[in-house]
Amino acid sequence: MTETPGFDRSQELAKASLAAGSPTDWFEQLYDAAAHGEVEIPWDRGGPHPLLSEWFAQYPEEATGSGRTAVVPGAGPGHDAELLASLGFRTTAFDISHTAIDRITAAHPSSTVDYRVANLFDLPEEWRGAFDLVVEAMTVQSMPRDVRTRATAAVRSLVAPGGVLLVIGGVLPPEPDPDYGPPWRLTRAEIEAFGTDDLALERVVHDTEGIRYRAVFRRRAA
Ligand SMILES: C[S@@+](CC[C@H](N)C(=O)[O-])C[C@H]1O[C@@H](n2cnc3c(N)ncnc32)[C@H](O)[C@@H]1O
Repeated sequence: MTETPGFDRSQELAKASLAAGSPTDWFEQLYDAAAHGEVEIPWDRGGPHPLLSEWFAQYPEEATGSGRTAVVPGAGPGHDAELLASLGFRTTAFDISHTAIDRITAAHPSSTVDYRVANLFDLPEEWRGAFDLVVEAMTVQSMPRDVRTRATAAVRSLVAPGGVLLVIGGVLPPEPDPDYGPPWRLTRAEIEAFGTDDLALERVVHDTEGIRYRAVFRRRAA
């Protein structure tokens, strides 16, 4: 989330939402305002995340989706999910905002993606360990640090045996303003915390500007 159109409005809504005790109500408010043409979604870059496209370009064996499942927690504008589906992954994508999901399905009426309204903190049991590829792009960092451990565990829970988890986000500045956020960018320790004994961190790479990272985790096969 950089200072793009819609950034100030997202900050105002987030602060009000947090003051009222909810880390997530502001997402629906922001998408609703966008649906009424009042604001732009600050994280909508009009296409898939470059670090996701780059992953598939660099590792073509990872881009074969046929016979594999994928999920995007916090689908947002849906570009990443549409890319996964175009590669043949049987793709699920969910968002806490019903207006976000309505906007995606209106934009992609023939999509093969199974778009759902769902909360990362209350996932359907059948999604546990069900996905060969999990693409977490900026959703955990969009929620405050006091829910980070739960959010991290929920994302991790989606990865199937032998599956891959990509965590994509913005690099935390060396001296972050403690009052700054959203986004609440992850520390290196918070990135590593997605890993467990059977979900190993393989590598963290940065974009050429050094402002975004992609961390790759792989779960041991059953
Ligand atoms: C910063 S945006 C990133 C969207 C998308 N992943 C991307 O890269 O463009 C975070 C998204 O996560 C959604 N979100 C936030 N908290 C959520 C939760 N608890 N469960 C599901 N979705 C959530 C928001 O509505 C928003 O669409």
